[in-house]
Amino acid sequence: MKFFIDTANLSDIQEAADLGILDGVTTNPSLMAKEGISGDQAVKDHYVKICELVDGDVSAEVISTDFEGIVQEGEVLAQLAPNIVVKVPMIRDGVKALRHFYDHGIRTNCTLVFSPGQAILAAKAGATYLSPFIGRIDDITWDGMSLIREIAEIYAIQGYETEILAASIRSSKHIVESAKSGADVITAPLKPILGLLNHPLTDIGLAKFLADHKKANA
Ligand code: E4P
Repeated sequence: MKFFIDTANLSDIQEAADLGILDGVTTNPSLMAKEGISGDQAVKDHYVKICELVDGDVSAEVISTDFEGIVQEGEVLAQLAPNIVVKVPMIRDGVKALRHFYDHGIRTNCTLVFSPGQAILAAKAGATYLSPFIGRIDDITWDGMSLIREIAEIYAIQGYETEILAASIRSSKHIVESAKSGADVITAPLKPILGLLNHPLTDIGLAKFLADHKKANA
């Protein structure tokens, strides 16, 4: 399973990259706004900076919601760097655009996916990645992880090549459950990724090893 970081924060991206486990980055307009990035050129410059930090796919989201606008924006974004993946919302014109990008060799991430039907459409349209939003489904007391399992089953039966990118991850547990449920990729903020490191028995065990070593070498 690939690990993407879900942020536009350059120091978080660098920290995850330094850990040696980072395969890519996802962003969205809210994450860009959170970093205070505004204006067309500033957004593009920021994507270029992210692409320079990461040796892997970087999802850059379009703002347009009509076919022509999505295509125009996506083509500009795709030219910023070879590792840009154009992020397209799961709407009618988005599906048309996914097919257009597929036919023109531009890789895509279909975002805002909340149902198996949407997942089938995106795969049929040739999306490279599919982003089901686990956390937002859990937020309304439904079960985000069962959506990942359902999509993984459908994609395996149908032989779809679109990669399942579990998104809207809120916890380290979500990452582990995504791995068990058949996600090809997770995208998460830095905190849940680093949370995977933690276990009290590791801390206790290490403290004992170091104490015994100190005693033996006193
Ligand atoms: C990633 O591609 C999504 O935009 C992101 O995971 C959404 O996460 P959120 O539900 O925490 O905003």
